[in-house]
Amino acid sequence: MGWNSWNFFRDTIDDAIVRQVAQSLVSSGLAAKGYVYLNIDDSWAATVRDAAGNIQSDPSRFPDMAGLAAYVHSLGLKIGIYSSPGPATCAGRMGSYQHEAQDAQTFAAWGIDYLKYDWCSATHVYKPSEQPAAYKLMGDALAATGRPIVYSICQYGANGVWTWAASSGGNLWRTTHDIKDNWTVMSTIGFDQQLGLAPFAGPGHWNDPDMLEVGNGGMTFDESKTHFSLWAMLAAPLVAGNDIRNMNSHTLEILSDSEVIAVDQDKLGNEGTRAAVNGLLEVWQKPLANGALAVGLFNRGATPATVTATWQDLGLAGSHAVRDLWAHVNLGDFSNEYSASVPEHGVVLVKIAH
Ligand code: GLA
Repeated sequence: MGWNSWNFFRDTIDDAIVRQVAQSLVSSGLAAKGYVYLNIDDSWAATVRDAAGNIQSDPSRFPDMAGLAAYVHSLGLKIGIYSSPGPATCAGRMGSYQHEAQDAQTFAAWGIDYLKYDWCSATHVYKPSEQPAAYKLMGDALAATGRPIVYSICQYGANGVWTWAASSGGNLWRTTHDIKDNWTVMSTIGFDQQLGLAPFAGPGHWNDPDMLEVGNGGMTFDESKTHFSLWAMLAAPLVAGNDIRNMNSHTLEILSDSEVIAVDQDKLGNEGTRAAVNGLLEVWQKPLANGALAVGLFNRGATPATVTATWQDLGLAGSHAVRDLWAHVNLGDFSNEYSASVPEHGVVLVKIAH
């Protein structure tokens, strides 16, 4: 769990913003909820290396990376950075091609805890079939530093990445093209493009349906709750992508909901799957520790609807206690099925006890 600069700040990110976001992660309470990785995305690096071939930050934006990392660490947070297996990043900054070991050492020396490694220009220097090896080069280089650095593979879900990313050292890998701050893209990624990928996720190696757009303004409250619920059901990395310094109460309420976060962070690390689909109504399930089941009743339609989760679809029998996770209320014991009225593009997320 953490935050990444790209979805909101794009190529305007700098040292001052990162420090302010770090402070806001702590003062908003989000850090205490688990959002500890503060990840700088593209546009931090200079376009040239120094005389010794070292990657360097753009001095007008990031005058002192080690100093910034120390500051972020002093707040109890961790810091992430971004590079590419190609010669240049997507925004035209320096990539790590043919400098993998050197850059990994630089990142470790700065105190970096997380690297997002984005394919971008690598398409000009590698064949698609060379992706596993290209990613392993940096995976091995990070391991060789001796510093624990989370390794985030970003190549937009090509070449069955979920089948090989963990053996390239990846801890998470993007499964799709970039998310956008709208219902259509978010819901397509979350509902449709993760189908079949659950077997590849587990503790230490996760499918990544991309960073959150909660709080960026393009989705309604209900759509944002659907987004967050779906990512929790998918055991997805929860990487906020909004301006943490300026959040309204709805955004903070969604990002900090302890019961929904607990579904995402459940220790078994199961990725949820779709249990039933009826037109635009979907029921998803995620087995939790201690035999409980998280169940999402989703309405992808543009009008309110009743969504029913049947025990048959969920593999349950008998009577079970049901709790509404967003409302934080126990709903009572149910047999055979649980039904709820779900707003347009909305969700009712429940936990069904063993
Ligand atoms: C790609 C990635 C995004 C972001 C941008 C930065 O599009 O998929 O997540 O990192 O590059 O340029």
